[in-house]
Amino acid sequence: MSNRKTLTIESVEEILERNDLMTQTIRNRNIQIQNETDAPQNAIIVTYGCQMNEHDSEKLDAMLVDMGYTIVSKLEDADFVIFNTCAVRENAEFKVYGNLGRIKKLKETKPNLVLAVCGCMMQQPHIVEEIKKKYRYVDLVFGTHNLHNFPILLNDYFEKHTQIIEVWDSQGDVIEGLHANRKKDVKAFVNIMYGCDNFCAYCIVPYTRGRERSRKPEDIINEVRELAQHGTKEVMLLGQNVNSYGKTLEAPMDFADLLRAVNDIEGIDRIRFMTSHPKDITQKLLETMASCDKICNYLHLPIQAGSDTILYKMNRKYTKAQYMDILKRAKALMPDLGVTTDIILGFPGETEADFQETLRVIKEVSYDSAFTYLYSKRTGTPAATHENQVSDADKHDRMNRLLEVLNPMIEAKMATFKDRLVEVLVEDYSKTSKEVLMGRTPQNHTVNFMGGPEWIGKTVTVKITRPKRFSLYGEIVASQEG
Ligand code: SAH
Ligand code: SF4
Ligand code: F3S
Repeated sequence: MSNRKTLTIESVEEILERNDLMTQTIRNRNIQIQNETDAPQNAIIVTYGCQMNEHDSEKLDAMLVDMGYTIVSKLEDADFVIFNTCAVRENAEFKVYGNLGRIKKLKETKPNLVLAVCGCMMQQPHIVEEIKKKYRYVDLVFGTHNLHNFPILLNDYFEKHTQIIEVWDSQGDVIEGLHANRKKDVKAFVNIMYGCDNFCAYCIVPYTRGRERSRKPEDIINEVRELAQHGTKEVMLLGQNVNSYGKTLEAPMDFADLLRAVNDIEGIDRIRFMTSHPKDITQKLLETMASCDKICNYLHLPIQAGSDTILYKMNRKYTKAQYMDILKRAKALMPDLGVTTDIILGFPGETEADFQETLRVIKEVSYDSAFTYLYSKRTGTPAATHENQVSDADKHDRMNRLLEVLNPMIEAKMATFKDRLVEVLVEDYSKTSKEVLMGRTPQNHTVNFMGGPEWIGKTVTVKITRPKRFSLYGEIVASQEG
């Protein structure tokens, strides 16, 4: 089923060369179809999961365009559908299976439709087995480690017209030289590292994304420079645990040094990063955040649970006291710091008293926002076999009680923005209207206000008139550039 490979530098070059060739072959095929039928070949990528997956989809998007596909936004218009899947919780997997059913129906009316499934779900052997058995109409399956091989695999499918499955167990080298079609011009995702070595007891990511490996600083810096030259104002540095950046490099460099180097790049106005693991946050990092003007005063710092017993069982390697100490030191250096978190409810063995500890943290920290999840059992992770799994009823009950505390606190915090002036980097129109713009404060609050396209990419001052739980509404009062 899976194809275990370790890449050498020569083979990376060979792969990229073969990909170029296959891209050209598919492009010629698409042009020919277009000439014969006068219909462009349309493709759509449906993305589930985190920013890592979103960015992978941007790379797939660039490959599709190179192959002569037109990207469309409706499944019904597509001749080629890719599902880029997430495995982090069972719900994410259910959504994919549901949508596969939709495509099966679509294929009945469009027999030439090609369906590819990739991403984190595919790194799990039991899922691939399921696809082989129950979803024969999936044409192409690949994983997170061989995304760069997509044109070769697709060409294989067009030649053989049978289900093609290639998933690699090991990640090999970091592959450079792949382009991405970024969804937004103003801000861009930049991978700084791949994989994760932390093995939190509940988490599937180390199994779907492989071992931690950092990109070379010069490759990152060059990518950011190029983005800046093309008008990008904000970069989001991506990794599962950015605070341990650099550990796999030959020449030592830590995350704080990397941030400082990115801070020096002309044209970039804002730098963000995610995700930060509390166990690896250093004082040097906090000081670097505070002293570099472009690094946003914003920290997404997942706590996961407030009880030390549960944190230990989760293999998180910090205590509640250590977590609170990081925030205390961070806020001493950056009093306006925006802080958000992730929380899991109902981890195996979580008692009512443990849950109360999580509630206590929520009350003590007063987060700007929090992502709250019900624990979901993931096959192959240590916690899946832990005793004392918490019942669904208890998980839901705890979620309800948590939100009863959390939501009013977030609302109250947002309400303090009324009549205040905030600095907003304007990203785009809002999703709902072409007259309303959206942007963010350095602390990552979403701000909406009336305005035209001339503001996009600029940093403006907005006076908040109507604060809501998820977004601040206001009026533009000044532009800080031109
Ligand atoms: N590397 C990041 C993100 C990991 S996935 C980090 O360490 O924070 C994003 C979030 O999903 C996690 O922070 C965690 O809160 C949640 N999560 C991961 N596995 C989960 C599971 N099995 N059940 C419920 N939530 C989970
Ligand atoms: Fe998962 Fe933990 Fe790694 Fe985050 S740090 S990806 S939660 S194993
Ligand atoms: Fe991300 Fe989901 Fe994979 S959270 S790393 S897409 S399992």
